Amino acid sequence: MKKEGGTIRVPTWLCGYRYENVIYGRFSKKTTTVDAIDFFVSDDFTNSQISIELLNYASQVIKNGGNIILPTRHQQIVQIAAKLNNNIRLYELLRNIQYEVCELVGAEAASILLFKKDHLEFMVTAGGASGKIEAIPVPMESIAGTIFLNGKPMIFNDLEKDSRHFKGVDKAAKFVTKNIVGSPIWVDNKKIGVIEVLNKNGGFNEEDASDIETFSKLIGKKLLSTWKYEQFSKELKTILLAIADAIDKRDNYTHQHSKNVTFYSLEIAKRVGLSQEKLEKLEFSAILHDVGKIGIPDSILRKPGKLTDEEFAYIKNHTVYGAEILSQIKYVDNDIISGALEHHEKLDGSGYPYGKKGEEIGLFGRIIAVADIFDALSSKRTYKEGWQISDVLKILKEDSQRGKLDERFVKVLEEYLIENGLI
Ligand SMILES: [Fe+2]
Repeated sequence: MKKEGGTIRVPTWLCGYRYENVIYGRFSKKTTTVDAIDFFVSDDFTNSQISIELLNYASQVIKNGGNIILPTRHQQIVQIAAKLNNNIRLYELLRNIQYEVCELVGAEAASILLFKKDHLEFMVTAGGASGKIEAIPVPMESIAGTIFLNGKPMIFNDLEKDSRHFKGVDKAAKFVTKNIVGSPIWVDNKKIGVIEVLNKNGGFNEEDASDIETFSKLIGKKLLSTWKYEQFSKELKTILLAIADAIDKRDNYTHQHSKNVTFYSLEIAKRVGLSQEKLEKLEFSAILHDVGKIGIPDSILRKPGKLTDEEFAYIKNHTVYGAEILSQIKYVDNDIISGALEHHEKLDGSGYPYGKKGEEIGLFGRIIAVADIFDALSSKRTYKEGWQISDVLKILKEDSQRGKLDERFVKVLEEYLIENGLI
């Protein structure tokens, strides 16, 4: 915030204000009132002390007849694009791009399409249209295709009569498109896709088109790099699952144990409200929770019949070996290591390798412990049949009542089983 005489320069998040029933600046959804002046602030506004101080100050300036100088339109767009650079994952980036462009021009919805050889494809990772429209190839004769080929922003305010409007997408997404402004998305001098902004009351104008073009030029590089990162992550996951599957096969599992443990761990974690970032880490941790079994000889791991105390002590080492292997990977942090190291620990201290108790055991270790026991008991192995799910759940509940497993995680796993008709 920079004071200039009777005026202050405000950051982008102070999007506008209403004073004596006149709205100044860019309207945004959230409002807060200070000294009877309504401030419209964007979603990243928090009631932190500095924000309250700024609003108090701004209200005094306004009341004393001073002005708040809002950034120019171009500056606003640059700041929005800069803010979006903080998004690491594609789903967040797409969601926030859509939100910001709609705010920018006062539209209802936005879509982002990527150019693939001879057609365009929607980029969707979450929301109502997810799973419905990504698979629909959008032809180059469509409006999006026309914008891409034209290489310039374009406005379509009369879609009813426009034969280029590709209705297949509206149908699949259960959406009615009334008007569109769109621009190619640029990375340096290359077009990589199209951004379309949909449905503005009264139609779009030239200023909207120019704003969307500026935005598309600024966001292209970030969008492409995030998309590539997402593709790389997917491929990496496939490789990790293949490694985990190989380990499971050595351990007499007749099915993909690590994959199942990952599935149940994520079901549990979603139900207790873990963030998307934590869910992604948990997925990594659960896939590789038994990776340390690589270090256990076949003569012990595959031994039919009962293990000696010495052999069992050796098996226990798979947790420590796993943590050692994972700690060599740059991306891996303590949460992820906890999954491998602590999934056999028990809350009452009776587990291994260290006999840790309660909160000493990491969150991932406690979640994976429940998922691991559930899958190990309920599934068939080369030397045993799978148990009835209701019997497995009984064991898990008893273990949580005896203070061995985290009660919350057993409870939400039960919820999952009930909701899916498995018990
Ligand atoms: Fe294990």
